[in-house]
Amino acid sequence: WPRSTVATADGLSIAGISASELAARFGTPAYILDEDEVRRRCAAYQAALPGFEIAYAGKSLTCRAVLRWMAEAGLSLDVCSAGELAIARAVGFPAERILLHGNVKTTEDWKAALEYEVGRIVVDSLDEIEQLGSLARHPQRVLVRVTPGVDGHTHKAIATGVENQKFGFPLRDAMTAVSAVLAQPGLRLDGLHCHIGSQIRSVASFELAARRMVEFMGEIRDRHGIVLRSLDLGGGHAVPYLPGEQEFDLVGYAQRVQVAISYTASSLGLPTPRLTIEPGRALVANAGVTLYRVITVKGSYVAVDGGMSDNMRASLYGARYLVRLAGRNSRAPLRTVSVVGRHCEAGDIIAADVPLPADVHAGDVLAVPVTGAYHHSLASNYNQVCRPPIIGVCDGYARPLVRRETEEDLMARDVG
Ligand code: LLP
Repeated sequence: WPRSTVATADGLSIAGISASELAARFGTPAYILDEDEVRRRCAAYQAALPGFEIAYAGKSLTCRAVLRWMAEAGLSLDVCSAGELAIARAVGFPAERILLHGNVKTTEDWKAALEYEVGRIVVDSLDEIEQLGSLARHPQRVLVRVTPGVDGHTHKAIATGVENQKFGFPLRDAMTAVSAVLAQPGLRLDGLHCHIGSQIRSVASFELAARRMVEFMGEIRDRHGIVLRSLDLGGGHAVPYLPGEQEFDLVGYAQRVQVAISYTASSLGLPTPRLTIEPGRALVANAGVTLYRVITVKGSYVAVDGGMSDNMRASLYGARYLVRLAGRNSRAPLRTVSVVGRHCEAGDIIAADVPLPADVHAGDVLAVPVTGAYHHSLASNYNQVCRPPIIGVCDGYARPLVRRETEEDLMARDVG
């Protein structure tokens, strides 16, 4: 929960506003986003990792307000499409602090990135190196994405450090990519990038990846006689979703990764590179709470007005969530229920086998915490359901940051 969440006589309140008032004013389902919580997480990262460049991974949650907060905090930004870049441009996010990512960059993505003159582009294939080389008008700074062969011990769908998947160059091919970049006069090789996956708890995996990357920098120096100055270690820091799950050991990460890098670099006679990390989830997940209204209770199924269209993570990764009665208090004993959605699939489950008061009934407001990252950004219109708004809350005030989608929005695209 955001730190501003408190239990009051009327149920839960977030940033000084009760969940029932938020539900009544803005409707449900709604993503509530605690602004101070986001700012606090950014400040915590900056304090724990002085000297690191922190680039917010916009894929976790992008809207103008959030990108503005990130820009104000002095963070950099990782975008992976022309769409994300368009929102960054709309808030005037400084171009030199933007990195463009992705294993597929379309003509539109290249065009937008070059037009806005983003600081760095992370290249992911030989085709890309050629395409970008022929498009870049000024020398474009690039990072080569390397897959360091490290298992982050996370869900298969979000493990990207192991070889044999679509991202980056495995170490055995990475020198070819480096040579290809160096052969392009329009490209300037700034450094290397790796991202070993998402929702990773193991600091040792990051440490191993960091060491391998620096060793590879040594090989590049030996082969090409150039010393790369920057190393981007990607994001992927885990957050706790359920009570009892551990916080990511950020202090341990800072210490162990820096020691691994400076030790490896100095033993190879290299300078310590400038370090970048790209946290997404760690900055915004905990600031988000989704509010739903119960529509019906049938046996042990509590069905709400949202579902897999606003929370894909449960169905995609088997992610587990806590659910709380938020619109009132109850003294009824707890019973085990499954909170399910409105979509036409048996797998549309928000939380299986969770305890809720036995008197939960139609009309109640429920809250699901840790829904700030990869919820709005993964939302869909399945069953032509309109996507929920993002409601920013701060100091007793609430305002829509992204409004609720309407049937007119749906119809506007349907031009047949
Ligand atoms: N950098 C790169 C290159 C990435 O691909 C990602 C995430 C990040 C940084 C940020 O990772 P984070 O710090 O947020 O873990 N939809 C999945 C997560 C997919 C992550 C994709 N890439 C989920 O909901 O768990």
